[in-house]
Amino acid sequence: MIIFCPNMDEPYRDQQMKEMDKTFRAILERRRSIRRYLPEQVPDEVIKRCIEAAILAPSSSNLQLWEYYHVKSPAKKEALVKACMSQPAAKTAPNLIVVVTRHDYWKQRCDANLDFARKVAWEEPDDKPIRASTYFTKTIPTLYFDFLGIFGFFKMIFSFFVGLRRPMFREVRAGQVLTMSHKSVGLGAVTLMYALGAEGYDSCPMEGMDSRRIRKLLDLPKGAKINMVISCGKRADGGVYGPRFRLPVKDVFFEV
Ligand SMILES: Cc1cc2nc3c(=O)[nH]c(=O)nc-3n(C[C@H](O)[C@H](O)[C@H](O)COP(=O)(O)O)c2cc1C
Repeated sequence: MIIFCPNMDEPYRDQQMKEMDKTFRAILERRRSIRRYLPEQVPDEVIKRCIEAAILAPSSSNLQLWEYYHVKSPAKKEALVKACMSQPAAKTAPNLIVVVTRHDYWKQRCDANLDFARKVAWEEPDDKPIRASTYFTKTIPTLYFDFLGIFGFFKMIFSFFVGLRRPMFREVRAGQVLTMSHKSVGLGAVTLMYALGAEGYDSCPMEGMDSRRIRKLLDLPKGAKINMVISCGKRADGGVYGPRFRLPVKDVFFEV
């Protein structure tokens, strides 16, 4: 086990960092999208630990607009497999987790951040909680609130004109703000998959699914959006469909 301690001796710390990097890279290399699983279930406690890891992912404004549904009821699981177009990554999977973007929870999550900032105010009496308060009572509501796209339209005009003179946030329309929420939830999803990998389990992210049926299956309101479904378990022979294809770094990384 690697225990990182910032006060440890420098050479020892370097050695620890190298080991951490090796472990991290092994986890990255190990993860492949698995389309055929063994029947063995992922134990509940493993799933719980992986969710605890997933919620450590960063999120925009720390709103944490994510929810994870481990579908355990056999009837619901069968319906979920169907909603995932009965694709092999879902059909053969012992466990299925639905990753949900709770875009509709932005107000509650602002309040949770505010409560936290107020609690911190007792311990750190500087202006941080006041700044957090303005941020979560004015800035974020201005960005997230919309009605039939009308406010979004005016926000876009406003941001265009202000943007002529100074850098200005541009993604202000309802669809763009929803994309922002999905981005953060995707970071949680990938963290979950790497956490499963670190526990020796495999996974496959799926967006080939009927989000509407899944939302109904989970009894979720319209404001909740299905981000993706993650199947997990242990890979079976032939579970990896082919060698990994990645574009060369020179095609995707630029120094400017
Ligand atoms: C957002 C997202 C959605 C995906 N949807 C599906 C899917 O519906 N079915 C599937 O078999 N694989 C799906 N994949 C897996 C990709 O096909 C896979 O990540 C890609 O081919 C690279 O292979 P690797 O994951 O083994 O490195 C999805 C991946 C991502 C990130």
